[in-house]
Amino acid sequence: MSDLVDVDVCAVEDLPSGSVKVVVHGDLAIAVFNADDALYAVEDRCTHDDGPLAEGEFDPDACVVSCPRHGAEFDIRTGSALTLPAYVPVDTYAVEVHDGRIRVALPRQ
Ligand code: FES
Repeated sequence: MSDLVDVDVCAVEDLPSGSVKVVVHGDLAIAVFNADDALYAVEDRCTHDDGPLAEGEFDPDACVVSCPRHGAEFDIRTGSALTLPAYVPVDTYAVEVHDGRIRVALPRQ
C-alpha cells in the first residue's frame, strides 16, 4: 500500500490562475496555487514561525508567495526560502488533475 493518498482539492475551474486554495488533511494544511495554469502545492505553514502562506501576497508570474507575518518569500515550485527571516524550505507536494478535479498526493495519516 502506498504511503500517499490522493486528496481532492476542488474543480479545476474553481482555482483560476493567480489564486490559491487551502486543503486540510489530518493535521496538515496544504496551500495549492495556480501560477499561469501550472499547479503547485506547499505546506501552508511558514518555516520561520508558522505563518499561513496562503494568506500572503502571491506573485503568479514569479511563482513566489510572501509570508503574511514577517515577509519571508518562498518559491512555490521548489519550496525554497528565498528571503529571511525564513531559511528552511517548505514541504512541497505533487499535484495532478483527474477528471477535471485537482488532487494532491499527501502522506497517509
Ligand atoms: S512566520 Fe513567516 S516570515 Fe515569520
